Amino acid sequence: MRQWSKDLRLTRRGLIAGAAGLLVAHAARADLLRTPRQAAGPFYPRTRPLDSDADLTLLKGAAGPARGETIEVAGRVLSLKGHALDAVTVEIWQADSFGRYNHPYDRGGRRDPNFQGFGAVRTGADGAYRFRTVRPRYYGAGAGVRTPHIHFYVHGRGSELVTQMYFPGEAMNARDFLYLDLPSDAARAAVTARREPGTVPRYLFDLVIA
Ligand SMILES: [Fe+2]
Repeated sequence: MRQWSKDLRLTRRGLIAGAAGLLVAHAARADLLRTPRQAAGPFYPRTRPLDSDADLTLLKGAAGPARGETIEVAGRVLSLKGHALDAVTVEIWQADSFGRYNHPYDRGGRRDPNFQGFGAVRTGADGAYRFRTVRPRYYGAGAGVRTPHIHFYVHGRGSELVTQMYFPGEAMNARDFLYLDLPSDAARAAVTARREPGTVPRYLFDLVIA
């Protein structure tokens, strides 16, 4: 009986160790959280702008660089399994430093004529993308106020995603109806960039699309 108990303990220990190993193995294979979808809104360009490169601060033919705080927005496009996805098109569009889109539907106030407003790049072998742009200002008022954000349309490899990127530590996020409409803190975290300090502040934003 004593021997049986000892064997049982050993067996249980082995089972527990085996189960822990399975849990670790399972965790390593767990899918990433798919980046939540968000509304495209009314300001996606109706026609593709002539200048749509990765530097939105410099518009071809403009008198000078865009106004406002220059930032970098960079990250990787990933599969649910965490694999980098190359040859995926990443498009962004956003308000300028006055909170105004370059779009006929935006009848707001002053607009920065030097701001490109839209950019498109393709991910390389490492799934990475990078833009240089300006930090957008908030726009709207009251219940419809929009905290600063950048719109993303990511498509390729049989998948597509429309979403918005938010800025970490931005107090207005807590009043934004689309940010609050996300189903969980994890979902809000998934659309909130991480800031890296530097001469030009960099916002890291990975997109998990498939
Ligand atoms: Fe917007």
